[in-house]
Amino acid sequence: MAIIPMRVMLDHAAEHGYGVGAFNVNNMEQIQAIMMAAQETDSPVIVQASRGARSYSNDNYLRHLMIAASELNPNIPIAMHQDHGNSPATCISAIEMGFSSVMMDGSLEEDGKTPASWDYNVRVTKEVVDYAHARGVTVEAELGCLGGIEDGQGAGLSEEEAQDHLTDPTEAGDFVEQTNCDALAVAIGTSHGAYKFKKKPTGKVLRMDVIAEIHRRMPNCHMVMHGSSSVPQELLAIINEYGGEMPETYGVPVEDIQEGIKHGVRKINVDTDNRLAMTGAIRKVLTLEPGAFDPRDYLKPARQAMSEVVAARMVQFGQAGHAGGVEMKTLDEMKSYYLASV
Ligand code: G3H
Ligand code: 13P
Ligand code: ZN
Repeated sequence: MAIIPMRVMLDHAAEHGYGVGAFNVNNMEQIQAIMMAAQETDSPVIVQASRGARSYSNDNYLRHLMIAASELNPNIPIAMHQDHGNSPATCISAIEMGFSSVMMDGSLEEDGKTPASWDYNVRVTKEVVDYAHARGVTVEAELGCLGGIEDGQGAGLSEEEAQDHLTDPTEAGDFVEQTNCDALAVAIGTSHGAYKFKKKPTGKVLRMDVIAEIHRRMPNCHMVMHGSSSVPQELLAIINEYGGEMPETYGVPVEDIQEGIKHGVRKINVDTDNRLAMTGAIRKVLTLEPGAFDPRDYLKPARQAMSEVVAARMVQFGQAGHAGGVEMKTLDEMKSYYLASV
């Protein structure tokens, strides 16, 4: 079984100076697309499911699809991660389902919308860390709030308002020390979804300097960049060429992510780019072949299109070629590690 704790992967990435893409999944084709890309590029992978994904696909389907992925790809280390857990209960149910890593997003209250207090964030994060580490499971936390709300997760902050909720580098050290989280998601002006920036972002709105400052203060902290889709113009163009109506919009340039990786970013969350790739491929088939009705006629090109985006990111983030280097540690081994380190 190659489902391993995410912490092992992040430690290896830090040691070797690369980042690991964390790709969201909701169904079999998306899991297959990620595993195809991982095999092609020889990459360790983080596969993550949001609360929405867990209820859409049903935990049991998801769990068995992930087991199938690990059985069919025994050479690929896989971390199975709960994205944006909104409460300790969500994280605990994920751990019970076999997730090897969870995010306790205490930057927002349980509704996933209201910015939470420092005390609330520390309390719920610490509660999840205690529960998870006793089982060898990794915990990601978040300090500061992302913009946007289009996917139902987030405080509904506009691009401008998000600038008032960035992670404060002077608070990050205290937060990590008080919670003992394994990785810290930081808010640097991005948002989830396709509509992040109205123009190609500059350093004024995409605050990579916040990452550099946190790294300067805490060189060993594994940082996580959410909302890291690049929203490639060519994918928007395919969607619009085949009947879509997506307005002009910009994402996070890959060069900025690469700069972040040089300053301690170890996990990079990407969902939207894969959604765009799949949607474009499906629109193309259904437009060019209006008579098509076998789902495989459009799901196969959709899976292929997602796999190409994922493989490109794996190369760009530097995780390609590292599958064999990551130790296949078990949750029990990780549990002993945490016990020894308290
Ligand atoms: O958190 C953001 C991810 O893109 C997941 O989105 O909640 O629509 O599944 P979702
Ligand atoms: P994108 O919407 O930019 O792909 O971000 C996904 C994400 O951060 C999931 O947690
Ligand atoms: Zn996110």
